[in-house]
Amino acid sequence: MELGTRYLGLDLENPLVVGSSPMACDLDLARRLEDAGAAAIVMPSLFEEQLLGQQLEAGLPIDEPAAQFLGVREQLPVPESYALSPDDYYERIARLKRTVAIPVIASLNGHSAGYWLEAAGYLESAGADALELNVYRVATDATRPAEAIERETAEVVRAAHEAVRLPIAVKLSPFYTSLPHVAARLAGAGAEGLVLFNRFYQPDIDLETLAVERQLALSDPAELLLRLRWLAILRGHHGLALAASGGVHSAADAAKALLAGADVVQLVSVLLRHGPTALTRIRSELVSWLAERSFLSVDEARGRLSLAGATSPDAYERANYLHFLQPPSTG
Ligand SMILES: Cc1cc2nc3c(=O)[nH]c(=O)nc-3n(C[C@H](O)[C@H](O)[C@H](O)COP(=O)(O)O)c2cc1C
Repeated sequence: MELGTRYLGLDLENPLVVGSSPMACDLDLARRLEDAGAAAIVMPSLFEEQLLGQQLEAGLPIDEPAAQFLGVREQLPVPESYALSPDDYYERIARLKRTVAIPVIASLNGHSAGYWLEAAGYLESAGADALELNVYRVATDATRPAEAIERETAEVVRAAHEAVRLPIAVKLSPFYTSLPHVAARLAGAGAEGLVLFNRFYQPDIDLETLAVERQLALSDPAELLLRLRWLAILRGHHGLALAASGGVHSAADAAKALLAGADVVQLVSVLLRHGPTALTRIRSELVSWLAERSFLSVDEARGRLSLAGATSPDAYERANYLHFLQPPSTG
């Protein structure tokens, strides 16, 4: 079975990628994930706030987009609580590159287009093969329209694109009025791919302590459905490569994401829960599934159920909705 996959200009042995998480920081685990069949590995994020903090500690000025950082500095994690300092992060990429032969994708996480993006150059020098840019943000300001936020996101991508020659994938949240429009704008700013999606971390409330409860739960396969819809809609848009992230726990989930239009699927929760053997199992079951349906390659299956060929994707989505709401015929 031909599993070869092209993603962000990289030739991958198969479409299974270890998603952004602390797994890449454990060199022994990274090697075992490679042996288990991972085709690439994404580093955990290096955060805008870490880089701004480092800049302030060095007595350097911060720029206008980062000024709001000063107001919330007290609420942020202290520098020691991050898994890796910026300098350790660059060094870890270099060590990971010496440890595994598969491509290593670095991850920067922030939301403003400022000096902190110069860190992308250090990631490139350290040997990263590509960059995942996670623009996690929650809009809370009623005076800022969607247009301003989307423009700023495009500026982040453009600034990173101008700083490095690395291919860039943007990890987005699903909450946009027109994701296809945003995708086009990001492609225009230099993005070569999209990672669908960021999981939106949703704090709970503890009724005993009346405090906000921060929790990081592993994902559930039900989360994949939102990804399938947008993979199918965005497949083929502006030549953007697509990665599914969120809810891929089995070969069946991976097959669905590929059919919808993903170039690669990223795995995190399933690997944290079951270890590298889960990757070997998913890879071999994916091969069996493809063979049983007489596909000769993963490319043949990819995008089969996307909306790339639909004459009116809007009408198709609306028709599906209407079908859902009609009671089954007793006919
Ligand atoms: C422990 C943990 C740490 C993570 N750290 C990061 C991170 O640093 N940057 C990032 O973009 N995503 C991070 N993620 C999100 C994952 O990359 C992924 O998008 C999410 O877990 C959904 O994929 P899954 O269903 O395979 O778990 C993290 C997830 C977990 C569980």
